[in-house]
Amino acid sequence: MATLEAVILAAGQGTRMQSSLPKVLHPLCGKPMLEHVVGLSIRLGATSPIVVTGHQAELVEGALPDWPLRYARQPELLGTAHAFLVAARRYQLGSAGQILLMYGDTPLLTEWTLNALLAAHRRQGGGLVLLSAELADPHGYGRVVRSGQEVLAVVEEKDASPEQRQLREVNSGVYAMDGRAAALAEKIPPSPVSGEYYLTELIAQYRSAGLPVSALAVSDPEEIMGANDRAQLATAARVMRRRINRRHLLAGVTLIDPEATYIDDGVQIGRDSLIGPGALLLGRTEIGEGCQIGAYSQLKDCYLADRAAVASHSNLEGATLAEGASAGPFARLRPGSQLDQGVQVGNFVEVKNARLGQGTKAGHLAYLGDAQIGREVNIGAGTIFANFNGLKKSETRVGDGAFIGSNAVLIAPLLVGRGAMVAAGSTIYQDVPEGSLAIARQRQQNLADRARKFWSAHRGELAAKHPVLLAWLEHTEKEVPLER
Ligand code: UD1
Ligand code: CA
Repeated sequence: MATLEAVILAAGQGTRMQSSLPKVLHPLCGKPMLEHVVGLSIRLGATSPIVVTGHQAELVEGALPDWPLRYARQPELLGTAHAFLVAARRYQLGSAGQILLMYGDTPLLTEWTLNALLAAHRRQGGGLVLLSAELADPHGYGRVVRSGQEVLAVVEEKDASPEQRQLREVNSGVYAMDGRAAALAEKIPPSPVSGEYYLTELIAQYRSAGLPVSALAVSDPEEIMGANDRAQLATAARVMRRRINRRHLLAGVTLIDPEATYIDDGVQIGRDSLIGPGALLLGRTEIGEGCQIGAYSQLKDCYLADRAAVASHSNLEGATLAEGASAGPFARLRPGSQLDQGVQVGNFVEVKNARLGQGTKAGHLAYLGDAQIGREVNIGAGTIFANFNGLKKSETRVGDGAFIGSNAVLIAPLLVGRGAMVAAGSTIYQDVPEGSLAIARQRQQNLADRARKFWSAHRGELAAKHPVLLAWLEHTEKEVPLER
């Protein structure tokens, strides 16, 4: 098969984005717009797509380091034909079998549609096939002027006659061409009105060379939608989100409310997993089979093995949950959190850079930072791993089967041995040997009748505020009078 070269125009400024970020780098479902177009062109068979840059070229050229891209820089933005020429000259596109030209800000095109475009171009035996769309409101687009199957011209809105403005078939800006486009584009004259070089003028060039020009209309005009401002970006994101969610639904994932589920492109979810409303699954998150993600939880770059569960309102980033592990509701797992099989992390527990061994439980209100925690450890409510001394972070290690009582403070670096216990309310700063009980809190004193005397001294206020307490006080005084 003839080699396919993809050229992606991305030099424009994108003023309407009102942003310091170049338009094509604005993210859509977790990836820059440009990356969606690049990925698409590679799936279609382009081995090294050419991206034409101009405005903020360095930023754009540095944004996708993992893709096999080539760049052509447009020194001055002289129009779409000039942008194409810069690429064609730099990479000798004259010898290309097929050239696919796209814009970096049109991220909703599908592989299916572009394959159809390339196939139509092959069937035509060369020349040019442009991708068109029938729009209810064609305003702003170049109109396709036809004579039957033949395309005579694309006329830009501002140059169109009143009759031509009535045409609803518009140019998407996507073209399949042969290598001759490189030489033909050299002949395009600047527009007498704007001085810009219009790629749509290729149509006239191909036609005067006696080569065929036609148009293929997309079945769903949504596909050619560009994202020029934030409103269009939000609309495009909604379209892409629907597609992503539909793909997961059809692959056996339950989404309680697909309209309110936000899944980035590239997230993987296994069958029979259930995703609650308002969930955000972001970045490179991977979720196994039979998992549950509760409502309003956010997971970014997380890995969940089969049957792991995240209850509602949890926030996880860079966390790993082994089979059957669970977190939340209201759990916060920061990067480096690793929950082994069957671990339970409950509400208002924060974990950072810590591994919790199989069967360990931290049910409520704790901070576990920089730690190695063994298997079957119980971490009581309110436990704090004090990992920071104002200058550096230190590690806490807790052996298998240890029991940490509620409201303990474990000051790192610290080692709590296997099977050891830490009494509730203790502040521990020395290692606890295997099997020992550490208590580090003041002994309790009970001061007899001290409270009763206090209530009695404030007797006047009790009648209004605490009638039950007053009744009890009077009752005790009948039995055991208070000493004065
Ligand atoms: C272009 C088409 C129009 C079509 C529309 C679809 C031309 C003359 N017109 O119009 O028929 O209906 O797209 O959206 O081609 N760019 C560069 N370098 C430049 C100029 C543009 O890289 O010098 C890039 C822009 O970043 C953008 C794309 O090319 O991604 C389209 O350019 P734009 O100026 O928006 O073309 P339109 O006027 O919208
Ligand atoms: Ca445009």
